[in-house]
Amino acid sequence: MSATPPANQTATLRFGVVGVGRMGRHHARLCTQVEGADLVGVVDASESRRAEMVEQYGCDGFANLDDLIASGVDACVVATPTITHRAIVETLLAAGVHCLVEKPLAPDPEEARCIAEASQRGSAILQVGHVVRFDPVMVAIRQIQGLRPRFIEIDRVSPMTFRSVDVGVVLDMMIHDLDVLIMLIGAEPAEIYANAVSVLGEAEDVCNARLVFPPGPDGIACTANVTASRLALKTERKIRIISEDTYVSADFALRSGTVVRKAVNEQQLGQIRERFRAGEDLSTLNYLELVKVEPLAVEAGEPLRLQLESFVAAIRRGGHPFVDAEAGFAAVRTAQRIVDAARKAGARMV
Ligand SMILES: NC(=O)c1ccc[n+]([C@@H]2O[C@H](COP(=O)([O-])OP(=O)(O)OC[C@H]3O[C@@H](n4cnc5c(N)ncnc54)[C@H](O)[C@@H]3O)[C@@H](O)[C@H]2O)c1
Repeated sequence: MSATPPANQTATLRFGVVGVGRMGRHHARLCTQVEGADLVGVVDASESRRAEMVEQYGCDGFANLDDLIASGVDACVVATPTITHRAIVETLLAAGVHCLVEKPLAPDPEEARCIAEASQRGSAILQVGHVVRFDPVMVAIRQIQGLRPRFIEIDRVSPMTFRSVDVGVVLDMMIHDLDVLIMLIGAEPAEIYANAVSVLGEAEDVCNARLVFPPGPDGIACTANVTASRLALKTERKIRIISEDTYVSADFALRSGTVVRKAVNEQQLGQIRERFRAGEDLSTLNYLELVKVEPLAVEAGEPLRLQLESFVAAIRRGGHPFVDAEAGFAAVRTAQRIVDAARKAGARMV
């Protein structure tokens, strides 16, 4: 017979959403759909936005955060502009309210560090909304056995939306990929080379960065080449990972990918190398017979929903969230290093 789980692992959590703009309205919807969460209230500086949520979901609408806290929420999703994250998150954590805060954690490393420290003071959980980790494409990549990346290439480009232009493309878009890279490799880059261009505003609109990670336990380093642009004519989200035994290529927009593995064993490879060395003409060998090509096993799922489910699960088990404040801080720190490196290389931006 299975044991009955303790009540705190089954009770429905009373959720609030702070900021119900472009992202917050999706979080509000999911708080009404995900098992274990119940949307009880929203806060927004805009009366019309909170009224819309009240009308749609029958929750309460508040003009200020203290009233939401006083209404007795267990957890909140914070989806306000990044410059407001610190004040809101610190208030919530001090009141013992668990927080899922949108990315980037903060507009600069100093504020990110303050939030990370605040999250260590109390018992409330802080998760950062690095949602790409929960994208089914990334979930499939994470599950590939024995993937030891040596070279990673990531492109994230979109046409200009004229949103979030108060921050540069590194903090707004590339930050997604910085979190993924640090997660996959388990370390922050040792060296960074970058260049950037600002075309429309004062912050950078396009950036390319080459990140050299410290060598792993096997002594071999990984290099990543990351490009983000918000001035493209199309939307593209692509990743290519080269490791010694496996090559993965995936398209987040198409939700598909390919995994290529060696189809020959070490002995057969040794023979090919030997023939190569002996100067033999190998042009009759069919490369496609030497590799096994399979589709990446991408399951269905909405990344934001999977993220919220993971947050609810972390609260219920009283454990560590998958994307903690330290991870959010590391991504902001790396973003700042990239902007600094681009400036050093001559890029003109504020
Ligand atoms: N995960 C992603 O892919 C993704 C995508 C876009 C934006 N974001 C992040 O989400 C956050 C919000 O971005 P957005 O595009 O939804 O912005 P938005 O401007 O569309 O919405 C922000 C909302 O917050 C409200 N607001 C502002 N200050 C407030 C305050 N102090 N208290 C309460 N409400 C306040 C505004 O009235 C607005 O309704 C940002 O941190 C952004 O970086 C994440």
